[in-house]
Amino acid sequence: MQYLIPIASGKGGVGKTLLAANLGIALARQQKTVILIDLDLGGSNLHTVLGIRNRFPGVGHFIYRKADTLEQLVVTTAQERLYFIPGDSLFSGTANLPYWRKLALLKQIDELTADFVILDLGSGTTFNTLDFFLTSQSGLVVTTPDTTAILNAYSFLKSSMLRLLQRSFPGRSDERQAVVDFVQQKVEGENLTLRHIVETLHGINPESGQAAERILDGFRPRVIMNAGRTAQDIRLGSRLRQVVRNNLEHDVEFIAYLPHDELASRSPLERSPTLLQYPQSPYSLGVMQCATRLIHEPVPGRLKLFPDDEDLKELQEDFATGRNRPQPTTRGSSPVSRAAVPLPNPEQSV
Ligand SMILES: Nc1ncnc2c1ncn2[C@@H]1O[C@H](COP(=O)(O)OP(=O)(O)OP(=O)(O)O)[C@@H](O)[C@H]1O
Ligand SMILES: [Mg+2]
Repeated sequence: MQYLIPIASGKGGVGKTLLAANLGIALARQQKTVILIDLDLGGSNLHTVLGIRNRFPGVGHFIYRKADTLEQLVVTTAQERLYFIPGDSLFSGTANLPYWRKLALLKQIDELTADFVILDLGSGTTFNTLDFFLTSQSGLVVTTPDTTAILNAYSFLKSSMLRLLQRSFPGRSDERQAVVDFVQQKVEGENLTLRHIVETLHGINPESGQAAERILDGFRPRVIMNAGRTAQDIRLGSRLRQVVRNNLEHDVEFIAYLPHDELASRSPLERSPTLLQYPQSPYSLGVMQCATRLIHEPVPGRLKLFPDDEDLKELQEDFATGRNRPQPTTRGSSPVSRAAVPLPNPEQSV
């Protein structure tokens, strides 16, 4: 059984990548096999934090069909049992991942053999990021104790819950439209909380309302408070909990407090992960504890989501650009022989 740990944040630069690298090492040191995937498309830098040169093909090679499987892209690291799939500058982070490739990518992630698969995501609420985050019911959200980071963490959680609700109902259904209207602020009224949309869904169909409650109930994000300097900073976590309770009627669980640590900020510059370079530093000890917790309280697998019309949009685009029209055949060559042309070897394009 493989556990997926997506790592996200509302605000950028709060320590996701540093955590992904060190959490991977911490889990591997506790005898788990781990694959780290850099899914910060367009902003990949996990290799730097791991101290690996950027010379291997990455996720973009799979997205652009230069590699058949993700497994082909796995590289070893300095830590035994820890493997890595690099990100890629081939794919821009702002571009929407083609729907079918996103599905294929998620399927490939599912098929990887490891105890834990950690996804280092970009910050913010693009659909790509939200969908990667929703690969687990209990993804990790990193925040720092400052007000902006806490408010952005709240916004991230709200966007995730709305995306989850939206994708839990089939396209073209009244339920999905109600969620979309809510997201687009087409619903009258100020300070609408998530309760409002659940009640609307109840109104459409009591079963849909109950389904929405069940789905939201199963959403159990876990928060990591990173780079705090004082005990007071830990308590700032309660502000996030409060705003989530007030507006989303939901609870978040804090699973780690990682202190601000000069050694943690120094190690990426030294091109060696903190846990390997300074295993006794406060940051490393905090991450080891967090890994132990994750091992003892693993979380259920993937959420099942309906397509978000991306499939239809993509088919439309294919139609407009002629991508789906049959290509002219060369006399004598059969479609079978064309399909048999081998894919380029990713090694050659390194
Ligand atoms: N606990 C900590 N103590 C000291 N420095 C830290 C700590 N956590 C992260 N940092 C430093 O903060 C900077 C940002 O960290 P990191 O790149 O991991 O953030 P990120 O959330 O992945 O950023 P992005 O949103 O750009 O992907 C790095 O220089 C990192 O070394
Ligand atoms: Mg990062």
